[in-house]
Amino acid sequence: MAEMPISQALYDRATKVMPGGNTRTTVYMKPHPFYAAHGKGCRLTDAEGVERIDFTNNYNSLIHGHAHDGINEAVHAQIERGSAFPMATEQEIRFAELLCERILSFDQIRFCNSGSEAIMTALKAARAATGKPKIAKCEGAYHGSYDFAEVSLDSTPESWGNADPKSVAYAKGTPQSVLDEVVVIPFNKPEEAERILRENAADLACVLVDLMPNRAGLIPATPTFIAMLKRIRADTNVLIVLDEVITLRLSYGGGQELFGIRPDLSAIGKIIGGGYPVGAVGGTEAVMRVFDPTQGKPLLPHSGTFNANPVTMTAGEAAMQHFTATEIDRLGALGDRARDGVATAFADAGVPGQVTGLGSLFRIHVHNRPLIDYRSSLMTAAEKTLLGSILSHMRDHGIFVNERGVCSLSTPMGDTEIDQFLDCFNNALHTVGDASRAAE
Ligand SMILES: Cc1ncc(COP(=O)(O)O)c(C=O)c1O
Repeated sequence: MAEMPISQALYDRATKVMPGGNTRTTVYMKPHPFYAAHGKGCRLTDAEGVERIDFTNNYNSLIHGHAHDGINEAVHAQIERGSAFPMATEQEIRFAELLCERILSFDQIRFCNSGSEAIMTALKAARAATGKPKIAKCEGAYHGSYDFAEVSLDSTPESWGNADPKSVAYAKGTPQSVLDEVVVIPFNKPEEAERILRENAADLACVLVDLMPNRAGLIPATPTFIAMLKRIRADTNVLIVLDEVITLRLSYGGGQELFGIRPDLSAIGKIIGGGYPVGAVGGTEAVMRVFDPTQGKPLLPHSGTFNANPVTMTAGEAAMQHFTATEIDRLGALGDRARDGVATAFADAGVPGQVTGLGSLFRIHVHNRPLIDYRSSLMTAAEKTLLGSILSHMRDHGIFVNERGVCSLSTPMGDTEIDQFLDCFNNALHTVGDASRAAE
């Protein structure tokens, strides 16, 4: 990383008032995080005054990049009217109508303030609706910070053994009772997953699945895996809960439309907030009924001081109105160009590597193992170092990409930005590839 004196000084101040100078583990970086000053469109300027094209987009949440004029106008008008009320608002109804119209499995929706909360609420709703205690999830899949959803997020060869995936704690202090209530299945291994799900079906409220889990490789679910989920749903009373916090952007009706699956419940977030904190749970009327307070205390009481706050609802409505089917297709074509370019660059530079993802999302991998799931995508220490050097070189040359090499596009981007990304990636591969060959 180039010298960044202003950021270093900010970090020194931060370490005195926040543990490790940090309030969000994902943005932490050695020797210090990047500090943002401002952004416009797909360009982000840091505290040193250095501008980069932003391929992280606040972790895939800014579908229109920074400070979008249409969203800003709508938000300015709303904050003049007030930012939060002890009353329901028309804004939340309008936004609920918009999302229920777009996402076919949504008869109804409830809003909250983060993707983590949406996942927690969806899992609790599945338990309330079925009266069963356990949930199943895929090994290595990230679903936010609810402790049940964190199980086996970072299992390793030491903890996974040779047999079925185990329930492994992610954070120190996770109670054994949490591990006992979470059944872990392998992603994209339909036979093993089906056996595990059937063995536990009597206790399982739901199976939680991200159709393209980014921490587990950004590898799309295979048709046979999806067929297995549908079979389980049809044969048992195990609900399907989709984590669409990231995949919603893949088509007009979300990943579920693209992959052809109708879940009972879905958790959404990120892009639907238009840049503001958000989460939501939507699903079939039969399951969403658990929240209904009209007959007395609901099966699942659900509240939150800032749920459906009108600023987020207004920003979200504007963001989703601008995220049209035409724009989704255009970004998908740009994503195809980026993926083709990355694959060609690896071949040209003679550096082992490949790229995964769909639509406006892609992830860079610096090995040639066949990628099917979390285990095959987990980086070795040497691969982490190599990828780290490539990405650091890119950040030093005008492209902002996060530490895992997961990239997302935003609507202000066009061919020019993809070309700049690919030029920079090519240069990084040649520089890093030459250095590692020289070291051999
Ligand atoms: C797939 C997925 N689910 C859930 C979450 C949690 O969302 P949030 O960070 O808004 O709590 C994330 C966040 O990165 C995510 O990528």
